[in-house]
Amino acid sequence: MADQQLVTVTIDGTPVQVPKGTWLVEAAKQIKREIPVYCYHRKMGPAGLCRICLVEIEGVPKLQIACNTAVTDGMVVHTQSDKAADGRRAVLELYLVNHPLDCPICDKGGECDLQDYAMAYGQGYSRSIDPKVSKPKAIDLGPTIVLDEERCVVCQRCVRFDDMIVGERELVLKDRGVRNIIATANGEPYRHNFTGNVTELCPVGALTSKTYRFKSRPWDLRRTGTTCTQCPVGCQMHVDVRVGVVQRTMSVEDDDAISDGWLCDRGRYNVGFYDDPARVTQPMYKQDGRWIQISWDDALDLWATALRQACKADPKSVGVIGGGRLTNEEAFLLQHVFRATGVKNLDWRAGRQRQASPGRNGAKLEDLETANAIVLVGESPSERAPIMDLRVRKAAFQKGAKLIRIASAERAYPSPIPSQDVSSVAEAIKALPKDANRIAVVWDGCDAALVSTLLEKLPGAEILTYITGEQANARGAEAMGMLPFFGPGYSKVDGGLDGAGMLDALGDGRLAVLSIFGANPALHYPDAAAVKGAPFVVVSDLFMTETAKAATLVLPAKGGFEKTGTTTNLAGDVLPVNAAQSLESPPDALSDLEMIVALAEKLGVDLPVAEEVDATVLRHLANSPEDFTLGDERFARHPEVSKDPEVSKGSFRVVFQTRIFAGGGTSAHDARIAELRPLPEAAFSPEDAAKLGVSTGDYVDLAGLGKLGRPSTGALSRAAQDDTADDAVARDTVMHDLLVEVRPGMPNGTIALIDGLPDDPANVCGAGASVKVTNIRRASELLEPAGAPA
Ligand code: SF4
Ligand code: SF4
Ligand code: FES
Repeated sequence: MADQQLVTVTIDGTPVQVPKGTWLVEAAKQIKREIPVYCYHRKMGPAGLCRICLVEIEGVPKLQIACNTAVTDGMVVHTQSDKAADGRRAVLELYLVNHPLDCPICDKGGECDLQDYAMAYGQGYSRSIDPKVSKPKAIDLGPTIVLDEERCVVCQRCVRFDDMIVGERELVLKDRGVRNIIATANGEPYRHNFTGNVTELCPVGALTSKTYRFKSRPWDLRRTGTTCTQCPVGCQMHVDVRVGVVQRTMSVEDDDAISDGWLCDRGRYNVGFYDDPARVTQPMYKQDGRWIQISWDDALDLWATALRQACKADPKSVGVIGGGRLTNEEAFLLQHVFRATGVKNLDWRAGRQRQASPGRNGAKLEDLETANAIVLVGESPSERAPIMDLRVRKAAFQKGAKLIRIASAERAYPSPIPSQDVSSVAEAIKALPKDANRIAVVWDGCDAALVSTLLEKLPGAEILTYITGEQANARGAEAMGMLPFFGPGYSKVDGGLDGAGMLDALGDGRLAVLSIFGANPALHYPDAAAVKGAPFVVVSDLFMTETAKAATLVLPAKGGFEKTGTTTNLAGDVLPVNAAQSLESPPDALSDLEMIVALAEKLGVDLPVAEEVDATVLRHLANSPEDFTLGDERFARHPEVSKDPEVSKGSFRVVFQTRIFAGGGTSAHDARIAELRPLPEAAFSPEDAAKLGVSTGDYVDLAGLGKLGRPSTGALSRAAQDDTADDAVARDTVMHDLLVEVRPGMPNGTIALIDGLPDDPANVCGAGASVKVTNIRRASELLEPAGAPA
């Protein structure tokens, strides 16, 4: 503000100093004076459509709209004068001519701006004697939203959000006059990763979430502020609970630093699993191949005894995987307890990601908007860190940053967002604007060689780096020491096996006890039951995941809204995790922290007191080494995720794509969002699709040639171990019924499959594998009526 020119405006008798050009509506907020608005929104600016924000300005004969009037020095404004109130009353009378008297049955009742302003400024009666125009009341706008046309005040906030913030431009205004209404441009369902925001933007009850309709009145909700832990962005959110159940989550409007005031649809809608009857509610022990329910005391005894015996025989035969989905405090105590018993095999990495701490050039989320070029390496943040993707879109669309994606197999950005797909680092460098002096590199944390080559070749510019990870608190887990080669605060330690190494060791009988917290490495290996050597596997989770099913002991865990602590987002911000007030958890579920503390007691491991843990966690988080770089050798995994050396003629190289609703642990356990879950699919470039003769909507079968399993978890799979010659189709690696998507911009010769979707036939496959299309079923044939001539 130092070099901004300040002006002084007097609002309702109070002088306010603000930067020149500030909208009057924002200046009034400085003295906590609320001017009513419908169409205006702080993140989208004025639209000047609704006229509810009328104010009186001395020296100006007519009332003015506060949202689109910039303050000038010496301006004297009356927001509460009789004249201003008369103007609003007149505006409201017009809004209410056709508005239905729905308040008693409207989901917005109690938090509706029309209801509130009508109470504050309305006259309490209508002079209109004509019947109200009636319109359809429950239009199914898409998988998440219902539109009540009668309630819409045509403020266009929803349309502007879709245009200015998301860039998808799905929502439009159609028809004229009293029939003016919101619809999707092409009549298709309203569907992208951020749809739920329009229900909060809508000032009335016209747009409502399917998951929240008729669920509660706002005054019946118990609200808790917390951090979303479903991805590494860490959006601040409100959790609203009624009758012990999560009813909804809402954004935090002034969370400018993290979420920019929005939520993605995963954070908003993937919250119904807490009361799913399929939750693990009691410790489960597998005895003679059958699950039996046991008490916590017995479970802890079994676990501690197995650990004690294995550590005594050989600490190298014990391992622990977890941390990326735990709080900082849980990750710290987890490594503390296991290291205290001599265990060196620790890792948070259970998937494809190898690194979460950016070190040098690591930047804050807000800084992304200041870059004049953004290079996305690997998967873009669109499905891994969706709200970060909104910042990428904002930087490109609103602020003119050049957006470059290297070898991306994802859908293209929507057309108003200028982006360029390139296939190599050399092309990316060529595509950079000549004057790019602030370049952001957003890496998915997987292909180290690609990102380090890029960084080496970037011109002399200021670099901002980000790693979008697979698990929410991956960065915190690293800082807490959940790596085989780093202890707390990234202190160098004598290393053991990493996650991949432990899974391999599990398969060949070198591990006697493996404890897994909030990770599901067996998802990609449906044949996990084939684990050899009968080791003792302990899994802490909310559901009977694929890994839990293959375990010996399953511990009922609490989820993110059921526990308290802190988490670290991808930008290094330490954020609060708060248990939602009045949320009812399964009575026997424990937080991971409670489990670790109870285990420590059984093992006789001393733990620091809570205050000491809190202080230690913060100290270690502040200790992130500045000398790490993206693709740093110190994070190398063994074996590194590798590609099959050859993709034979007619075959495709497999790449995996994260999808926000594909996860197995939670979104599979909420029937309300079943429509949002993707079907198992296989995406091809248009050229490859043309050669194969397939179109979007067809189905294909795939078969793998040679090794298909991900090297890092291959030991869990019998199916992955077939060393058949390259030209032979392995009998047990056929993948049936994948829905075809033809995706412009995808590199030729690759096939994109969905990562981590439960029951996806492609789960037998690893990234970099080589697969062939063995069968095609065309959509047109599938639709053919029974008995139609051949
Ligand atoms: S649906 Fe809601 S947000 Fe959209 S134009 Fe109507 S009132 Fe405004
Ligand atoms: S972007 Fe991530 S942290 Fe934010 S709401 Fe979505 S899932 Fe939650
Ligand atoms: S808020 Fe000012 S015209 Fe709509």
